Amino acid sequence: ERSSNVQTRPPVVTIMGHVDHGKTSLLDKIRETKVATGEAGGITQHIGAYHVETDRGVITFLDTPGHAAFSAMRSRGAQATDIVVLVVAADDGMMPQTEEAIDHARAAGTPLIVAINKMDKPSADPDRVLNELTTKEVVSEDWGGDTPMARISAKTGDGIDELLELIGLQAELMELEAPLDGAAQGVVIESKLEKGRGAVVSLLVKKGTLKQGDLVLAGEHYGKVRAMTDERGQRIKSAGPSIPVEILGLPETPAAGSEFLVVTDEKKAREVADFRTNREREQQLERQNKMRLENMFEQMGQGDVSFLNIVLKTDVRGSLEALLAALNELSTDEVKVRVISSGVGPISESDVTLAESSEAVLLGFNVRADSAARRKADTADMDIRYYSVIYGLIDDVKAAMSGMLA
Ligand code: GTP
Ligand code: MG
Ligand code: NA
Repeated sequence: ERSSNVQTRPPVVTIMGHVDHGKTSLLDKIRETKVATGEAGGITQHIGAYHVETDRGVITFLDTPGHAAFSAMRSRGAQATDIVVLVVAADDGMMPQTEEAIDHARAAGTPLIVAINKMDKPSADPDRVLNELTTKEVVSEDWGGDTPMARISAKTGDGIDELLELIGLQAELMELEAPLDGAAQGVVIESKLEKGRGAVVSLLVKKGTLKQGDLVLAGEHYGKVRAMTDERGQRIKSAGPSIPVEILGLPETPAAGSEFLVVTDEKKAREVADFRTNREREQQLERQNKMRLENMFEQMGQGDVSFLNIVLKTDVRGSLEALLAALNELSTDEVKVRVISSGVGPISESDVTLAESSEAVLLGFNVRADSAARRKADTADMDIRYYSVIYGLIDDVKAAMSGMLA
């Protein structure tokens, strides 16, 4: 039963590279859509998943952010994938996140294809890019190495057919297979809360076929798939290996990067979910205890440390994680940044209450406050700060920290 339904599956290709080197533009050109122009600050802040029909069959693409703050997302992107396409702008050359992407691909053992982009620009210097890449031991096949490379322009479309050809060849070499039937398994690409819809979770199926009505266990949560759509928002009833989908039906948002699987036994699902929830709670209690201790030391006058307390709400789990990591790095010997509470979804009344009682600043990233929260904030004369680009938020927190020293 197990081996009889094993079939060839589409390759999953993650697009990586330095900020603004043209990853999203390349995918736009491949899909003939216009995502990049609609992004806040012109930067990608989520992993996006898309699948396209090419002459060589279906290819699934994961777009990743190039901005430095999203290292964890990139690491996940490299792990969820079969092939990494590294986009390097021909006018800019190898940059820090180019190098980081090479490291992620190596760490994950994923083959690399280089796309030298922006070849339409007069300042394009592909030979310089080739030279720089050799310092990271990424050597073009033309130069006696083993890394396939294509010279492309995401603007004009030049070279994109050749790039798709290279991806197809690499995929054929890898003989990618997965069972088509049976309980689905895979990985959570991203998850968010939407008003009226609940948790909206992007999944990438790796094995088996996911169907509407399936009981899905993902991270600490489980629920029945109530509705399923492809990345264009079209309703679908099932999704096989390498296909990205959005599902409704989980009670809450599982962490981006967690594994999911379809289970038949609801009791087992609850047991596993409860176990994971308890573990999560214990870790949270530990963090709270640590904060209490820090408070005690502060009151006892130990050291001259100030604390900047933050309550943070974000649109998706991936951006929450990226922001927590970035905030964590801001703490200095004099000012410690302390996230009192964080989560996904709109800013609620209880967030305002918590921020008020802990004298925290209340920050929303790609989310708004609901009306009850706004009323409460008005009454309390509390400021809620909203952001749509990650460095805007980080810059403001830095400014607040230096204000505390003044
Ligand atoms: P992040 O997701 O923020 O890391 O950026 P990205 O790598 O997805 O780059 P994006 O697609 O947002 O493109 C950045 C800028 O480069 C935009 O202004 C694009 O219009 C421009 N651009 C992308 N590809 C090309 C290209 O081939 N030629 C030219 N001339 N401009 C390009
Ligand atoms: Mg992008
Ligand atoms: Na960009």
